[in-house]
Amino acid sequence: MCESPLIVKTVRDVRECVAKARADGRSVGLVPTMGALHAGHVSLIEASKQDGCYTVVSIYVNPTQFAPTEDLATYPRTLEEDVQKCRAAGVELIFAPDNSEMYPPGDQTRVCPGPLADKLCGAFRPGHFEGVCTVVAKLLQIVQPDTAYFGQKDAQQAVIIRRMVEDLRMPVWIEVCSLVRDADGLALSSRNARLRPEDRARALSLYQALCAGRKLLATGEPSMGRVIAAMRAVIAAHPEVRVDYLSLVDPETLEDVQKPHGRVMIAGAIRVGDVRLIDNMIVDLPVK
Ligand code: PAJ
Repeated sequence: MCESPLIVKTVRDVRECVAKARADGRSVGLVPTMGALHAGHVSLIEASKQDGCYTVVSIYVNPTQFAPTEDLATYPRTLEEDVQKCRAAGVELIFAPDNSEMYPPGDQTRVCPGPLADKLCGAFRPGHFEGVCTVVAKLLQIVQPDTAYFGQKDAQQAVIIRRMVEDLRMPVWIEVCSLVRDADGLALSSRNARLRPEDRARALSLYQALCAGRKLLATGEPSMGRVIAAMRAVIAAHPEVRVDYLSLVDPETLEDVQKPHGRVMIAGAIRVGDVRLIDNMIVDLPVK
């Protein structure tokens, strides 16, 4: 019996394994990750398994989505534990390429997203979503899955990827899975591993701010300014925390909401020390 999951590093090997699975009549699911896997990633794997897919997990810390000032060097790398988690979840294939496999000598082509990538995180991470679109386009091209699974945790990323797939007429279904939180509400993130013990309560203030915003919206508060001020006040209790943004946006267009009604996404990004954390919630308000 062959070792499961199989771990491959080359495009050629992925194609061979996927071709065999297809010849066996399997549909193929891809879960793109940067590793340091946690229960959020595992929920995407489970969705793929639930759909009956031959499940491919890519583990690749993509340098083009990090700015020179960002945490590429310190991004957690835990391949052995990741393999164990993939094995427990029933993953068939892990694709763990190195840089030269993803960006071959002479590589210069990039996938440039539109204005969706300028909002929210894009305003603070110029070039980030170009790096994401480029690597995801490569991964989709390499694996050619029927379905690729993404998390609502990175809501803007999911919206931009859906747009890219539509615009480039890529033959893949993008499935967006619910955000998974720790028991205390903190959104699971590979970067949580870099929080010091004293940072945990600071990090949690983002979740608490989103909850406060949701509560105020539910009372019928009509002023977006007041909702955002209430959220900022929650985080201000932790002077060490820097807010990148707290916004109320349409979950599909990512445009700022003027008058709250229908589906509203409350989204935020903060910095705790040099760790950047994001979170969001969708609120369903009466349609006016
Ligand atoms: P990474 O941060 O490793 O996340 C991989 C996938 O897991 C993303 O789709 C993300 O939204 C999802 N995910 C992360 N935390 C989650 C949580 N708490 N609940 C549910 N899903 C969660 O996102 C990336 O990597 C990269 O940008 C990538 C798409 C792999 C391209 O490099």
